[in-house]
Amino acid sequence: MKNRRNLYLAALILSGLCFAGCGDDDENGKLPEQELSEEYYTGGKLGTTFNSTSFAYEQPTAVVDESPELLLQFKRGETLFEHEFTSNTEGVRRGLGPVSVRSSCLSCHPGYGHGKRMDRYRAKDSGNGYLLVVTDANDNYVSQLTGMPQTQAVYPYLPPIDESGIKIEWKNYTDEYGNVFPDGETYSLIYPEVTIERSAINVPMPDFYKVRLEATIGIYGTGLIDAIPDDSIIAQYQYEKSLGFTLNDAKYLPENFIREADGTSHPGRYTYGLTRGTLQNGPGANAIWNITNVTRSDRRYHYITTAYATAMSQNSDIQEKLGKTEQEIYADLMSRELPAEMSDNDYIDFMVWHRGLAVPAARNLDDPTVKKGKEKFYEIGCTACHRPSWTTGADKYTGDPMVKDKLPRYPYQKIRPYSDFLQHRLAMVNDIRTGWCRTTPLWGRGLSEKSTGASEHLHDMRARNYNEAILWHGGDAKLTKERYRNLSKTDREALIKFLESI
Ligand code: HEC
Ligand code: HEC
Repeated sequence: MKNRRNLYLAALILSGLCFAGCGDDDENGKLPEQELSEEYYTGGKLGTTFNSTSFAYEQPTAVVDESPELLLQFKRGETLFEHEFTSNTEGVRRGLGPVSVRSSCLSCHPGYGHGKRMDRYRAKDSGNGYLLVVTDANDNYVSQLTGMPQTQAVYPYLPPIDESGIKIEWKNYTDEYGNVFPDGETYSLIYPEVTIERSAINVPMPDFYKVRLEATIGIYGTGLIDAIPDDSIIAQYQYEKSLGFTLNDAKYLPENFIREADGTSHPGRYTYGLTRGTLQNGPGANAIWNITNVTRSDRRYHYITTAYATAMSQNSDIQEKLGKTEQEIYADLMSRELPAEMSDNDYIDFMVWHRGLAVPAARNLDDPTVKKGKEKFYEIGCTACHRPSWTTGADKYTGDPMVKDKLPRYPYQKIRPYSDFLQHRLAMVNDIRTGWCRTTPLWGRGLSEKSTGASEHLHDMRARNYNEAILWHGGDAKLTKERYRNLSKTDREALIKFLESI
């Protein structure tokens, strides 16, 4: 977050002094002059920011902004997201040992949004938001590697994967329509193929393994998504089921709900895989431990596998450099009683920041082209999965005792994420693991280029723009895609203008 209050003040002052030329520069966090329709409040009245600058994804919600105490915590938490952790044994932001996926959250979530499409995998390449997904012949994660495999190690350890052996190739794809719209306009599609040389992997591997990429998802607004009642998500599942959609039914058997520390269980709502049901045990709360391998009081162990600990402890070079025996190294690596590197207070600040991020307000909704595009978006059935709005509940869940009663809340807000928070199979070549992918929220994505320097889409960033993203839709979305293909060029462009404005 960059000096929101100052920008806000400057904008208020400037708004009285505006001459020709400053008409479209009214975006620095200034509140709208005339009463905007409710539809502009993408994150509801409590969760929307009117900042649409390159810092649009980094702003606090009104709940945080209005509480000096929360705002201070938010700012402290923000540094834990933005700054690099180090392998130091003293001082701030300690971690990374013995192995890590990245040194900071921001290195994968540039500008707090999606990452960039990349031609190579290097943990140090800024904006590389990719996770490696390494699976076996049954499409299960290879158990010798962590679910999020690491390519960084602290001396003298070796990384599980040496990244010089990772290769990303982008292949051309011709769809069943020969990459031509009915009106004759052509397009091109590409998708990634990833391999890792066996010799670059420092743990034993099965005979067959396959590698794919998963790209980051925006972080803003995840606190508002957290406030949607479980029952509403289950009702959406039942509704789409009644419409005949093919859904990942196993996820909605109560015995498969995600169990939390407080004994409650919840249907998944976060990540492409719907693997997380609450923010308090969400992708961020876990990432601050496993991405950076930072221990905290409730996680006093490393994010590594026994296969890795075995391989490293048996490595004579490592034994020599550490001056320790195999048994000692193994015990160190697998210890469940490591000192906490992150204090409880830091973790609480981090979670206040996490639940405190606002969603950028919609823009240009009264523009005639945008209005036309909206009509088309509804008419051709995109809203079946990109459900426009949800209403949050009482927002009283307190799962994790560490943050109990400390996080900002968003009761009874009408929010507009444009997602059903369910998974579909869009049936694309070299698809995501299992083929099931949560509908990605579309809110705020139009600001991606401005906020992150990149505007690719889909789970592995194969779509270089909105048009390509839509053209990759198959499975239950095929009919809708065909309707899109049959729109006039002007209407297709209007639909995309609408997507850019929400
Ligand atoms: C290696 C790159 C990488 C790093 C570093 C990283 N993330 Fe992510 N993040 C991802 C990917 C990839 C996804 C989507 C993955 C999925 O669906 O499983 C994601 C998803 C998320 C989401 C879920 C959004 C949603 O709508 O479901 C949140 C929240 C998040 N990350 C927060 C964080 C935080 C906080 C950190 C730092 C502690 C962090 N991430 C570090 C790659 C990364
Ligand atoms: C059957 C459900 C379904 C329908 C119908 C559908 N989508 Fe999607 N949409 C998805 C899913 C699932 C994803 C995530 C796919 C992935 O990342 O591989 C997605 C992703 C997207 C994305 C990329 C989001 C991002 O930033 O990565 C865009 C843009 C999009 N859809 C637009 C549309 C439009 C426009 C329509 C109507 C023509 C539409 N969708 C219809 C399910 C659907």
